[in-house]
Amino acid sequence: MNDADFDVKALPKAELHLHLEGTLEPETIFQFAERNRIPLPYADVDDLAGRYRFDDLQSFLDLYYANMATLRTVEDFADMTEAYLVRASVAGVRHAEVFLDPQAHTGRGIPLETVLEGVTSALSASERRHGISTGLIVTILRDLSSESAMTTLDAVLACGADVVGIGLDSAEVGHPPSKFVEVFAKARANGLRAVAHAGEEGPPSYIWEALDLLRAERIDHGVRCLEDDALVHRLAAEQIPLTVCPLSNVRLQVVRDLSQHPLPAMLSRDLLVTVNSDDPAYFGGYVDDNYAAVRASLSLSPETLCKLASNSIRASFLDNTRKSALLTEIATITASLSTKVEGFRAG
Ligand code: HPA
Ligand code: ZN
Repeated sequence: MNDADFDVKALPKAELHLHLEGTLEPETIFQFAERNRIPLPYADVDDLAGRYRFDDLQSFLDLYYANMATLRTVEDFADMTEAYLVRASVAGVRHAEVFLDPQAHTGRGIPLETVLEGVTSALSASERRHGISTGLIVTILRDLSSESAMTTLDAVLACGADVVGIGLDSAEVGHPPSKFVEVFAKARANGLRAVAHAGEEGPPSYIWEALDLLRAERIDHGVRCLEDDALVHRLAAEQIPLTVCPLSNVRLQVVRDLSQHPLPAMLSRDLLVTVNSDDPAYFGGYVDDNYAAVRASLSLSPETLCKLASNSIRASFLDNTRKSALLTEIATITASLSTKVEGFRAG
């Protein structure tokens, strides 16, 4: 096989850093606004799409939260989730652990039950409909109070929804993980897995806090770890996964250009890096687009792309049986690459 023939979509992969609300495409926002009779402050779809230019995380978050006003009913949450799964299946996603921001909806009067019923109805049908196993991670808005976070956690636990983990997102700088120690402790005591956004715009100290104070098992983004050698050694030694989102990093100006992205440096330091899409409707692509973009801009080989895919499976919260099955599929693809190279050399 020519390198050029290698298809990133055919690579089985897990997506571990995906905000469901970040999958709302401009067309969907208009569709939901119309059916819910919500006036939008945009002339048309092109006007809205033209606003998808961001200076930093906050400028994105302002639009991201504003557009959530169009999500009202169980059907809206179910349709949003199903549309993501349809697109993820085209991207070769076989397992998805997706983020949901309950406070962004309860804070504007939508009952938590409505949100969770819609999302979980689509997720629970995903394996049958799309062959994608799923896990739901409720993310805490770190720019709100720790009391609000605790109330949200209690409500999620009380309603008995199928939730695999707790995460931490929204405006990072000024809202360190230490603010949520009790919330994460309670979540873990109730069997939830812990992840946290850290080191996207915030300093490496936030990554240390996420590990030591929240006991996060994965770090979302984490690209700023490279500023701290001791931290890189720890992350590598413990093989703590980092869910990196290359197109997001460029759009939010965390990195200047994709060709300058630290992904190769992170791989070379033995970090367990994965590639993900974050908010694909806003940042120019789904997970396959992210793989294709880093491949092109950073000249990644098919072997490296296979490694990123197997990292994503290893970093997931899947059970060992399904992990092994997916890793075997990827290993078969990887082996076919080396066979082709050897065959070429021999010939
Ligand atoms: N960072 C922090 N919060 C977020 C993001 C992100 O990239 N996307 C949605 N909420
Ligand atoms: Zn994110």
